[in-house]
This record gives sequence, C-alpha cells and structure tokens, in this order.
Amino acid sequence: MAIRNLRLEGDEILSKKSREVEVIDDKLQTLIDDMIDTMHKYNGVGLAAVQVGILKRVVVIDLYDDKGPIVLINPVILKTKGEQEVDEGCLSFPNKFAKIIRPEEVVAEYTDREGKRVKVKAKDLLAQAICHELDHLEGEVFVDKILPGTLEYIEPEKEQKRHD
Ligand code: NI
Repeated sequence: MAIRNLRLEGDEILSKKSREVEVIDDKLQTLIDDMIDTMHKYNGVGLAAVQVGILKRVVVIDLYDDKGPIVLINPVILKTKGEQEVDEGCLSFPNKFAKIIRPEEVVAEYTDREGKRVKVKAKDLLAQAICHELDHLEGEVFVDKILPGTLEYIEPEKEQKRHD
C-alpha cells in the first residue's frame, strides 16, 4: 500500500473521461488499496482514480461510519430523486469550497472489488459523494457547477505556508 500523488487543479487529466475496467486483477487491487490510503491520508470522503492519474472507472468512498470504505468499479447512476443544497470540496482543489445542488437520493449500480455487481440506494452525503465522484469519471469537476457567488478560498494553514 502506498500514498499516491494527487492530481491538482490545473492538471489537464482532470478533464479527461475515464475508461471502463475490464478485468479486476492484482494491479487493480493495488490501485484500490492505494486510493483508499491516499483518501484517508488527506481526510477525503471520496477519490476517483483519475485524481491519482489513472483513467479508469474506479471510485472509493468513505463516510467514516461503520460501513468502512466502499469501492465502486464501473459505477452508473440509474435514478436520482430530489435536490439538496450542499457544501462541497474536492481533494484536487484543496483550498476551495462552494455550495452546489446535488440530488437528494440516487440509485446506483457498481461492481465491487470481488467482482460482484451491487445496487445501492443512497441519500444525503453518500448520494452527494457518489455524484461528485462519478462526475470525475466524466472529466467534470465540482467548481464548474457550483452556485454562483458561493466559492470560498480557505487559506492554507500558516504552518504549511512557512514551508513554501
Ligand atoms: Ni473530487
């Protein structure tokens, strides 16, 4: 397991579409383990493979509840319901936060890391995370769809600044 380098704002890979996963092999399992480590290292709720430079349709999500990290391979959203206005950020935009409208509920289908196709009905934060991460797979990032005037730039911590 290893922490991978995060691709950040301005990196053109973030606007590229990811490809379907065809085989779940050892290399993919390693990628998944590394993605989970990388997400945890930066206290993220979700991470898409493109954010570590791999254009594959793989997403990890962890709401830090009793379900643990979930791994979504080739995920699709089948249905959405309602709307919620939520605060959102992204590990690729470390200092930016904004409000955005997301569906309140989604029904999604994905392959888990054992190769089983799973259907999930998600609400609230999980619905938001699934939508955010699936956008990454299409090369879309949250700052392109935020509510106008809500973008906030949070200054990096002073300690971090001293090392610049
Ligand atoms: Ni993101």
